[in-house]
Amino acid sequence: MDVTVNNQSTCSEYEKLEPLGWLANGMNAENGRIISFPTIPQLNDTIGSSDRVIENGYFYERELYSPIDMGNDTDWHSFKEHWDRLAVDKYMADGGTYRLRRYSTLFFESHRMAILKMPYMPLFKSSSYNSFAGDIFRDFQETESTLFFNPYFQRLLNESLRVFIACENQRGRTKQKWFIEVDQYRITADKNQPGKPTPEGVHSDGTNYFSLMLVAREGVRGGVSSIYDNVLNLKKEVTLEYPGDVIMLDDASMMHGVTSIEPLEDHGVRDILHISFTNLLRPGSINRRFGFGSEDMLTI
Ligand SMILES: [Fe+2]
Repeated sequence: MDVTVNNQSTCSEYEKLEPLGWLANGMNAENGRIISFPTIPQLNDTIGSSDRVIENGYFYERELYSPIDMGNDTDWHSFKEHWDRLAVDKYMADGGTYRLRRYSTLFFESHRMAILKMPYMPLFKSSSYNSFAGDIFRDFQETESTLFFNPYFQRLLNESLRVFIACENQRGRTKQKWFIEVDQYRITADKNQPGKPTPEGVHSDGTNYFSLMLVAREGVRGGVSSIYDNVLNLKKEVTLEYPGDVIMLDDASMMHGVTSIEPLEDHGVRDILHISFTNLLRPGSINRRFGFGSEDMLTI
């Protein structure tokens, strides 16, 4: 893989991009730890949800990827246990300790037929899309590599990629290079501190699309997800209750928020796998995602 900064970029734009690691620096990409997935996504939308994402702005399906026999499914148990090994997010503007997470970045371009795990890079979001922790580089522990090879992770990743590739194809954007971000979130709630899944309120993530799947919801009430269009008309309200519940969202045209969670008794948790997808070749995507730059800046 060769990732370089285009010589035509301005110095200030390069300086802003440089801390983003592999996205801005080809040497890091070549020397990095890259994982190819043995399960190659077929480039069609096997669950037919791209039409719904385009028509409605979202797709929601209860228990889409739920384990059939949760009690005896060792793959599910090892998948779920990854959420017991997250670290407290130290970048919370409200000083809260109720959010734990890990973060990694992946890359996919269709002619390579494999999804690549890219070297570490910090998380950076523009304050235009993140008033809570925008315009700062945030360091998180990386996703554990065992998660990438778990069938439940692979299912959400591969199916989401198929859906969003189909969306882009239907919209006539067949040139695609996907910057994929993997976020594991645990929101905790106890009597002293309710948990806020979206402390920034109703917002857009600044990506093109994302999928989220409920991994666990234990001992809490609240946590109602709301989906709005870009002028804040409410389109959907749903509570993710069952492990395997999935929402896929057209993040570029929709907004979203989740109400706080409170413990039913002493303590509760809400665990989410969130995977976002940004087509770096889509006009305006890089600027939207990072708050600066354009697709002309990168030769990938
Ligand atoms: Fe969000």
